[in-house]
Amino acid sequence: MSTSQVLLLAFAGIGALAIISIISIAWRRGQDDETTEGRPDREASLRDRDIAADPDIGGEVETKDEEELVPADPVPIDPLKLRSEVDEETMGVTRRQFFNRGILGIFGLFLAQFGIASLAFMWPRLKSGGFGSKVSVGKIEDLRIAALTADGRAQPVFVSAAQAYVVPVQGSLAGSSFEGLPVVAGGMMALWQRCVHLGCRVPECESSQGFECPCHGSKYNFHGEYEDGPAPRNLDRFVVSLSDANELIIDTGAVIETSRSSVKTIEYPQGPSCI
Ligand code: FES
Repeated sequence: MSTSQVLLLAFAGIGALAIISIISIAWRRGQDDETTEGRPDREASLRDRDIAADPDIGGEVETKDEEELVPADPVPIDPLKLRSEVDEETMGVTRRQFFNRGILGIFGLFLAQFGIASLAFMWPRLKSGGFGSKVSVGKIEDLRIAALTADGRAQPVFVSAAQAYVVPVQGSLAGSSFEGLPVVAGGMMALWQRCVHLGCRVPECESSQGFECPCHGSKYNFHGEYEDGPAPRNLDRFVVSLSDANELIIDTGAVIETSRSSVKTIEYPQGPSCI
């Protein structure tokens, strides 16, 4: 199952849960309203009876003396004395609690979605074979054929899974800033496509036999050595090795930076520039 499918399923699950919760809350509130509607409130009846018997709040005292049964002037009832505290349990969910819980629910939903999105973002780094891990590129013989034209000029092979150009090593690397580093296997190197200036993708230029960045004009030869522009160093490259089956393995989790060098291992430019 792809990352986007997992993400889609997760969002659908969260959405379904949210809808079920809302329907459940609404249904329960409806039930509460139904059960209380139309029924006499026993506490209210008792309170009315107490009021009727309490002379302090306007009630009447029962008496057996018939003379005192003469109607007296009505005494106004103090509404403040009728007030009584209602505890939260009796009251149920107040409007404020309802809104607070709603806000908390929305915030929780947002956090869950953020967490899932973060996991999805990291997913390619966790699984094997993607960028950030070792990528098998294919048989070294096939790569050598693909990376050289019939007249012997270099022709970088772009490997999207590794975000890298596989280039043939032409001549000696002696004196270069990457001499002796584990960046050559089977006569091939893997250069990261990312410009070391500000990160633009650097396209190849067949005519000049180099990589030329369209963003600010940095130029590198086909060994990724700095030639021109604001780039501070050579193109970064990955550690490479050969498998038992003679396949080129690019370790995209192992990036090697090398400094500019006055010693160039390959001629550049070999023709007109592309930018
Ligand atoms: S990003 Fe390539 S030269 Fe600036």
